[in-house]
Amino acid sequence: MVIYQNISLKPFNTFGIDVKADQFVEVNTVEELQVLCTTFNLAERKKLIIGGGSNILLTKDFDGMVIKMNLKGMDAIKEDHNFVWVKAMSGENWHRFVQFCVDKNWGGVENLSLIPGCIGASPMQNIGAYGVEIKDTFEELFAIEIESGKLVKFNHAECKFGYRESIFKQEEKNKYIIVAVTFKLAKHAKLNTQYGAIQDTLTSKGISNPSIKDISEAVIEIRSSKLPDPKVLGNSGSFFKNPEISNAQFQTLKAQFPQIPGYSLPNEITKVPAGWLIEQCGWKGKRVGNTGAHKDQALVLVNYGGATGNEIYQLALDIQASVQEKFGITITPEVNVI
Ligand code: EPU
Repeated sequence: MVIYQNISLKPFNTFGIDVKADQFVEVNTVEELQVLCTTFNLAERKKLIIGGGSNILLTKDFDGMVIKMNLKGMDAIKEDHNFVWVKAMSGENWHRFVQFCVDKNWGGVENLSLIPGCIGASPMQNIGAYGVEIKDTFEELFAIEIESGKLVKFNHAECKFGYRESIFKQEEKNKYIIVAVTFKLAKHAKLNTQYGAIQDTLTSKGISNPSIKDISEAVIEIRSSKLPDPKVLGNSGSFFKNPEISNAQFQTLKAQFPQIPGYSLPNEITKVPAGWLIEQCGWKGKRVGNTGAHKDQALVLVNYGGATGNEIYQLALDIQASVQEKFGITITPEVNVI
């Protein structure tokens, strides 16, 4: 395990922001991570754990230790007549894991095809797309407690999953490093095609009885058509979460903006697509210096090349302020601003 000094983080974040880390270390095994926690007293240090770097906006040089999780491997560890349990290490690429499952015809994560990032980050923010979240197939995870270096298991309930939320973003923030996640996949999967765009894509291909692979391919087609590839145009997926407002506030807004979309949730709550709100404020496709809101999906902020993290953050603040002013709704970042 080598600790490098003064390393550029540009290759390690999908926004492509060029800032430096005081110290940078790649971790390949659980044992290395435990050494880092105990011998190097990680609990007391300023630190940033990264996987694919697909959910961070770096606004300044990082005056601490960046730990890049590189633990690899995924395997079926148990199966019965109906299910198979696959354990994947945190540094595995998320989409590679999805393809591994799709190729074996194990169902449950096909709707999550092509999401950037690594396995370790997936439970942190309960990644989701096209009507599915990882909490739907999550079985358990293993994490290292930073303070003690001990390996700890978290079951489903203990993770307290919510919309782009888990205990690791709340009360247990910065206390654990996820090293492996086990998913329970179905051998006779019930497919989730309720999301309009998936249905439309399957229909346009003349598929009426889709397989797991058909769904995965449809999702790849939809995502590729409107979400920019970070390798081509720096971005971090959706920058903001979709806000949840009271049904009463939604009805008031509906009277003023009849086109406003909303999805009813339990407890008198309506979720409103932030992309629509941002587009209505005139940001879609708008370029500000080297930054902008993407032309096909206003919720995705992009780096046209050479933007600083602060320029992107300033754009995010301006967008936030205009949504607040026009609709009285506060949109909050999904991306971690550092
Ligand atoms: N919309 C607009 N203008 C836009 C973008 C969207 O009017 O510029 C409207 C669309 O017309 C649609 C609605 O907003 O009616 C929802 O749009 P979309 O289906 O693209 O989904 P989203 O709510 O913007 C969420 C996730 C995405 C995920 C998609 C598909 C969040 C924050 N984002 O986006 O996840 O891929 O649903 O399920 O929940 C991510 O988290 O990084 C991400 C890409």
